[in-house]
Amino acid sequence: MPHDSRAFRNALGHFATGVCVVTTRGPDGAAVGLTINSFASVSLDPPLVLWSLDRASDRFPLFMAAERFCVNVLDGAAQPLSHRLSRKGERDLLDEPYAEDAPLPILKKALAYFECQVEARHDGGDHVIFVGGVLSFGHTDDGDPLLFYRGRYRALTGEG
Ligand SMILES: Cc1cc2nc3c(=O)[nH]c(=O)nc-3n(C[C@H](O)[C@H](O)[C@H](O)COP(=O)(O)O)c2cc1C
Repeated sequence: MPHDSRAFRNALGHFATGVCVVTTRGPDGAAVGLTINSFASVSLDPPLVLWSLDRASDRFPLFMAAERFCVNVLDGAAQPLSHRLSRKGERDLLDEPYAEDAPLPILKKALAYFECQVEARHDGGDHVIFVGGVLSFGHTDDGDPLLFYRGRYRALTGEG
């Protein structure tokens, strides 16, 4: 069967996800971020998470060089930030508020965050899979998540 990547993407889009911004610091110390929805939990003991990065991303060298990253799970109010950090070349956090005292940028708008040390980078076809060992984490119970489904941002409707 010939591979139809459009059809594959459309099928994958039926898996509803949250949306995260992965942050790190560039070689100059600047706070940078990237919108992702490939975040997943891996292991409870030891605590491990993963996400995958497109090899074609302009941010690829930056994240490959980073030894630490922070996964920030976004609140619905952060949709404009998610949109901006998914645009080509838009990597700076700019005036987005984050904790200044932490080594990695932890977004104030995050529902949850996971500060990680890179444990492994695995080949994942046209992506690289980053496995992070969780150094610290936190969450707030205020707010509702930003969701992504069939190529569009969504909000939670109703309680389960
Ligand atoms: C909801 C959403 C989820 C995304 N998930 C990922 C992802 O998991 N991994 C990835 O490499 N890119 C992902 N992207 C795409 C990147 O955000 C975007 O393509 C990239 O930042 C392009 O710019 P760059 O070449 O300047 O890095 C996602 C985009 C959106 C809108």
